Amino acid sequence: MRICIVGAGYVGLTTAAALADFGHEVLCVDMEESKIESLRQGIVPIYEPGLDELIHKNVSDKKLFFSSQVAESIQDYPIVLIAVGTPSNDDGSSNLTFIKQVVDVIASTTNVYKIIITKSTVPPGTNEWIHKTLIEKGLKEDSFDIVSNPEFLREGFAIWDLYHPNKLVFGTKTSRPIKALRKLYERGKAPYIFTSLTGAELIKYASNAFLATKISFANEMARICDAYEVDYADIAKGLGTDPRIGRYFLNSGLGFGGSCLPKDLSSLKHSAVNKNVETKLLDAVRDVNETQIDQYLNKLTTKLPNLTEKQITVWGVTFKPDTDDLRSSPAITLIKKLVEKGCRVHTYDPIVKLDLPDVYAHINRYESVTDSDALIISTEWKQFLESDWLEIKSRMKGSIILDARNCIDGKLVRKYGFVYLGIGNI
Ligand code: UGA
Repeated sequence: MRICIVGAGYVGLTTAAALADFGHEVLCVDMEESKIESLRQGIVPIYEPGLDELIHKNVSDKKLFFSSQVAESIQDYPIVLIAVGTPSNDDGSSNLTFIKQVVDVIASTTNVYKIIITKSTVPPGTNEWIHKTLIEKGLKEDSFDIVSNPEFLREGFAIWDLYHPNKLVFGTKTSRPIKALRKLYERGKAPYIFTSLTGAELIKYASNAFLATKISFANEMARICDAYEVDYADIAKGLGTDPRIGRYFLNSGLGFGGSCLPKDLSSLKHSAVNKNVETKLLDAVRDVNETQIDQYLNKLTTKLPNLTEKQITVWGVTFKPDTDDLRSSPAITLIKKLVEKGCRVHTYDPIVKLDLPDVYAHINRYESVTDSDALIISTEWKQFLESDWLEIKSRMKGSIILDARNCIDGKLVRKYGFVYLGIGNI
């Protein structure tokens, strides 16, 4: 099959590479010429394990192509998959500017039957709006089909998720595109869920809102555990063995970040409010998340009462491990709060050299802790677990480790003389 993917961002690029690898001819287009030029030279603009190799393989097999000629490309391909960004507006609603631009191009270039697949995360009603707009702009009902096909990829595991999806969701208005959709994804063995356009949009939002709810629940439980000097890890284990609950997304820590969970929660709330629906649960999920960093700062001050002029090292700056994505990273919020409190902040991250005023970014984890009063672990990179704690102890001025992801072996580091702190990890 021949597919044009619009948007060479995170979703567009990973999907393009995988669909090409499934055997389709894929053209990935983006208005940003410099990005396309880099991709043509083999430079992949994001860090995602396995993506470089997959792109290079399929480019050399002549199954994956890149172009900045958006209109010509859309016109030329029978299937157009929209994977442009839908960032947040200041009021929490989704900004659909890029979606609207693509719809305008589709309206002005479509003259033979086309399947238009929306992969971007969009608020309920958007795909119905796209359908209505294309009709208003002169397209005939039988000259196109709209499919709402949200993605459920996790950064850091996107390639794995593309090959092993746990569901494939398709919202359609007619059964006409279904055969083509099955062929497009025939390599992915997962339940197919067919629903309406708006139903598919809401499955996406509900999935992310539920994941966010599990994390805030975990964080609230960890706070209670902390107050009663109980190890939250035991609670997570006890909860997780019940198949009705499940162990995934019950890790407590600095809270959820990234470009999806916080944004989708706000957008869903916005969509609900537009229809006068109260969102008490979503509001509570957000509130727990927004107060989580202060909980950790309070914990730090139990051992380091005056943070002014203290040197603090933060390990991990991205919103989670195995990504270079800094969007809505709780670590960045934490670092900014430390700077505001007058701390001298040093950072180390396996992938990103952070560029923030008044922050010293290191490329060596051991150098980053030299003379520091405390070390904060803000993302659970595997490398951190294998650190030379003796070396770290000898370099640091103080002895505090604040494990904000419950990923370090507390018993082990205490043996080296560290004061090991966290919330709900006794
Ligand atoms: C999330 C969803 O997991 C994907 O299914 C979805 O496709 C994607 O959003 C999207 O909408 O595009 P992602 O943002 O890559 O994926 O990251 P997650 O793995 O969901 O993690 C989000 C945040 O939750 C991270 O900051 C992570 O550290 C935090 N988290 C995760 C916890 O605090 N505890 C956990 O147990 C799990």
